[in-house]
Amino acid sequence: CGIVGYIGNREAYPILIKGLHRLEYRGYDSAGIALIHEGNLKVYKAKGKVSELEHYAEQKDVAGTVGIAHTRWATHGEPTQHNAHPHYSQSEELAIIHNGIIENYGLLKEGLVREGYTFQSETDTEVLIQLIEFMKRSNGTDLSTAVQLALTQVVGAYAIAVLDRNNPDQIVAARKGSPLVVGIGEDEYFLGSDATPIIEFTNRVTYIGDEEIVTIRRGEALKIRTITNIEKTPRIQKLEMTLSQLEKGGYPHFMLKEIFEQPHTLSDCMRGRVNVEGNNITLAGFIDNREKFLNARRIIITACGTSWHAAQIGMYAIEEYARIPVEVEYSSEFRYRKPVIHKDDIVIAISQSGETADTLAAVELAKNAGAFIFGICNVVGSSIPRNTHSGCYTHVGPEIGVASTKAFTAQVAVLTMLAILIGKEKRTVSREEYLNLIRELNLIPEKVAEILKKSGQIEQYAKTFTYAGNCIYLGRGYNFPVALEGALKLKEISYIHAEGYPAAEMKHGPIALVSHEMPVIVIATQSDTYEKVTSNIQEIKARKGRIISVVTEGDQVVRGLSDFSVEVPETLPCLTPLLSVIPLQLLAYHIAVVKGCDVDQPRNLAKSVTVE
Ligand code: G6P
Repeated sequence: CGIVGYIGNREAYPILIKGLHRLEYRGYDSAGIALIHEGNLKVYKAKGKVSELEHYAEQKDVAGTVGIAHTRWATHGEPTQHNAHPHYSQSEELAIIHNGIIENYGLLKEGLVREGYTFQSETDTEVLIQLIEFMKRSNGTDLSTAVQLALTQVVGAYAIAVLDRNNPDQIVAARKGSPLVVGIGEDEYFLGSDATPIIEFTNRVTYIGDEEIVTIRRGEALKIRTITNIEKTPRIQKLEMTLSQLEKGGYPHFMLKEIFEQPHTLSDCMRGRVNVEGNNITLAGFIDNREKFLNARRIIITACGTSWHAAQIGMYAIEEYARIPVEVEYSSEFRYRKPVIHKDDIVIAISQSGETADTLAAVELAKNAGAFIFGICNVVGSSIPRNTHSGCYTHVGPEIGVASTKAFTAQVAVLTMLAILIGKEKRTVSREEYLNLIRELNLIPEKVAEILKKSGQIEQYAKTFTYAGNCIYLGRGYNFPVALEGALKLKEISYIHAEGYPAAEMKHGPIALVSHEMPVIVIATQSDTYEKVTSNIQEIKARKGRIISVVTEGDQVVRGLSDFSVEVPETLPCLTPLLSVIPLQLLAYHIAVVKGCDVDQPRNLAKSVTVE
């Protein structure tokens, strides 16, 4: 979900709506806004996207210079207008917006019902605002203290913002687990789940820490204290993000823009790290912790979604070059399955957003077990980088499209650089191999640019594809995780069911699904398993499956067997994913567009999942 807030001299409504649009990638089931004006606390909400809320509010009074707003990804309760945020307290004096989950809300609710409170919605959020009101009344305190007292009773994760009708000059906000940023302007403050709604007004921000409460008062300095009532001094940072990074720049969708940005984002990710003239790779996060990496008994990589696919590729590269055993874990499983973690293990957490709740919890778990934690994240200043011992940013700029593209290729690039670097230091990579890898890495951005020129061709083919109800993606070696990622991209945005499989596993089950109606996407670039993959393709042909292949330039055999092929330039096997995934991103994109799907905001998904 996305939170936005404003207090200052301007009208809050347009700022809040714009902010909601910028945060819409975090969830778009329903949206709502609360404003205080002339002693009234007004709440407007609508089911659906932010534009529905705007439509609903057209005829309403939206005056006010203080307000909070929310765009929701439903957890408790259906995405109805009723369950949308903000929620009032019983007296309608307070209103709250909330990201996250209050786990003990049932118990808290029982207590409040005994105190005579009644409830309007099914949400855990309403329980929280009633509890805050109860604390305020029964203890006769101000809002900030009431929030503090209420939060001491809450089990769960949250970012909240609260308004009080009787005190129109303040917003009280707090976080635990879910992110929260305050932007500091001239006589005005902005609040956001991340910096995207803030950047157009100010680049001075302060990130609220875990279990901290911030009181934002008109014309006064920010006050931060912890839930246990310890005062904190706000640390003000300068944002590096620019507004143009948050806009579509002439592309019809963020996803297409981000796919096309990849030659640049890969260069940005490798800048200062891969140095062809100096013949070396450097990663600050590695240099600072060289001994830890060289002595690591094992590396565990934990992630979710697309980042988990990057982790798989990382496993292949680290085992090949650094010769350290690697395990890849879904964060959501890892955190609950009582894993064995040693002090000389390195745990790498990969996350575009740096906020995924399960990955953050996995980091905490591994940290408590004494492991060294290394983050690979994109969003600077987000929770995971702040909770790890060291790490590397991917530096691809904001990724807005819900289906991850440029973040994925950069994650793979960072993992590959790390694998090569450890290998070089451990001497498991020869000097010759090392130089060759550097040379090839450096050529990747221009090779990606070559593949992007085929977008039109892929678009044409996509038009013949929309009939499909199911697809299989096959790959081997480094291309197996790419098959998983290609299938995920298609599922996410076109709603066509798709499965990724190791090509040779197909005969152990999925081959039963193959028929003339079943497109099979095979990644068959040159490698030592090329002939084997060719045999797998023959098996599919024999059952009349339709073949779409990704092949190396100049390929004859697989091309000849395919209904449609896309060529990618030749490179080293470990770098192939950076090229072979590009046609799959484009294929998913074009199919979804032809099908009329909402590419940037596919149904039921959210970009940043800050709940378990
Ligand atoms: C969500 C997004 C995916 C993403 C996953 C992990 O499910 O829709 O695109 O891969 O979260 O996100 P992270 O920010 O941790 O990489």
